[in-house]
Amino acid sequence: MADNVEDPGPHADYILDRPIQPVTGLRQGLPNYGDPHFALFLRKVFIKALGYSEDALSRPIIGIINTFSGFNPCHANVPQLVEAAKRGVQLAGGLAMEFPTISVHESFSSPTSMFLRNLMSMDTEEMIKAQPVDACIVIGGCDKTVPAQLMGGLSANKPVLPLITGPMMPGSFKGERIGACTDCRNNWAAYRGGSLDIEDIAALNEELAPTGGTCGVMGTASTMACITAALGMIPLRGGATAPAVSSARLRIAEQTGSNAVAAALAKRTPQKVLSAASFHNAITVLQAIGGSTNGIVHLLAIANRHPAVRGTITLDLIDKIGQQTPLLVDLKPSGNNYMTDLHNAGGMPALLERLRPLLKLEALTITGKTLGEALDAENFKPFPLSAQIIRPLDNPLYPASSLVVLCGNLAPDGAVIKASASKDRRLLQHRGRAVVFAGPQDLANRIDDPDLQVDADSVLVLQGIGPVGFLSPGMPEAGLIPIPRKLATQGVGDMLRLSDGRMSGTAGGSIVLHISPEAALPESVLGIVENGDVIVCDVEKRLLQLEVSDEEIQKRIADRQQRLDGKKECRGPADKRRQPTRGYRGLYERCVTQAQDGVDFDFLAADGADALERRLGSS
Ligand code: FES
Repeated sequence: MADNVEDPGPHADYILDRPIQPVTGLRQGLPNYGDPHFALFLRKVFIKALGYSEDALSRPIIGIINTFSGFNPCHANVPQLVEAAKRGVQLAGGLAMEFPTISVHESFSSPTSMFLRNLMSMDTEEMIKAQPVDACIVIGGCDKTVPAQLMGGLSANKPVLPLITGPMMPGSFKGERIGACTDCRNNWAAYRGGSLDIEDIAALNEELAPTGGTCGVMGTASTMACITAALGMIPLRGGATAPAVSSARLRIAEQTGSNAVAAALAKRTPQKVLSAASFHNAITVLQAIGGSTNGIVHLLAIANRHPAVRGTITLDLIDKIGQQTPLLVDLKPSGNNYMTDLHNAGGMPALLERLRPLLKLEALTITGKTLGEALDAENFKPFPLSAQIIRPLDNPLYPASSLVVLCGNLAPDGAVIKASASKDRRLLQHRGRAVVFAGPQDLANRIDDPDLQVDADSVLVLQGIGPVGFLSPGMPEAGLIPIPRKLATQGVGDMLRLSDGRMSGTAGGSIVLHISPEAALPESVLGIVENGDVIVCDVEKRLLQLEVSDEEIQKRIADRQQRLDGKKECRGPADKRRQPTRGYRGLYERCVTQAQDGVDFDFLAADGADALERRLGSS
């Protein structure tokens, strides 16, 4: 303390005519009792019940969000990560405070995990804002958790540091490596097609997820981990790829603890770190890894939470960057390997080094270094395995555009296909007759009907699984429409399939997703497609077209509106007007945006206040 400034002494917080300062640590975000000194006094009363000293309470407070759940095996290692992160915080002179938020796992979230992503983002945002943390480590891994935490962290705008749980190890079946979830789907399809027996499928069930951690292929969880590294939010080395059960993962956690203290002292918030350049890098990595189509929806939602970036990250931009970016990473479902292979091949430093000419190296990272400086510090040198798993730019796995954005009268606001995961590339330029299913129940009822009018050239169309949906909201991962059993048993392995829903990042096939506007909206063209209509999909031309005249389309839309209004007889789920629903589901159905805007709630985006104004104005 300078000589001429009076030391307020150890009880400064209780001097009533002195403003409470500095407004950091425990002194921030006091509950409103109309007497801030009393609020701080009371807060200290309660925190001391846990045995903390004034010295401990004077340190930068680093929150650690614990998302362990008995229903989330992808987060099985969270208790160990919390301990390691705490060690890192405390070694760096901070005080670690652990607290929970909700945890979302793919297989334990009904109707779908996507329905809960926005709830988790709200939980994350509000708890970071409400509690006196100077920075916060957010531990996530399973598909929706990392985007939820990035969305919430961006909106809370305190320093936020993701800590990824990490991928699971691959398993083994009859000598072959297997892993969730690409091999779950492939083997299930083989079982449906009759080439696997019931003993085999039961044995596979034991081995597909042999350890805790996230799915071991380039599914959504791995995609979001790589994207988070490309955004500069986690350590480049190991942050995205170190296996969940490795000691490297624990060291990443410790490092994240010390990084959090530094970010707290520098007040390095996500809105300061992230920029349009960061998102450019994230999209480049998404394309180069053949990432999950879900990554597109999540990136759009994350970008739209940022006041300076909102609206600049679009489907068009994602497609444009894709045209310049080859697919380099040889992982399932686009390639053959597993996340542990990517890690052993050098992980993100190796990939980013390969992509250097395509990246915006001036983008900041959470450590305060630019991405270029962080890469220089890694000084990665390729070795034989790295060249095998991460191809050079001039010898890619797929030349460009692993993820393609389609447009046309069937998807005026866009649709997405993971072209690199197509199993029958002829289908990327295809013209066929529609076989339409009005929602998942109709699909389940009829897909294996021996009398279904379908052949290998048909285009399977599933309506009603968009963000709002016909019967149930949440944009389920039902876009991987199964091949009708009568065709599967004849050896048909891929067909052109269309929907307004999503698909697991671990899945593959010629599958068009995220068609917008979704079929549940009265103006949707997808909602009026009929059996026998001709559909053209041309990936090269970015086209998704219904070969029906504009007049006929408008007539069908007008007819459907009459059925929705009860003026004509209802023909199925597409014609049923939704009854208003209470609670979170009601909020979701009223406020969720379409795929091209990230399926966030309109009022949570950076301009969310305008959405509320619009809503109030129209009520
Ligand atoms: Fe959690 Fe796949 S189910 S990452």
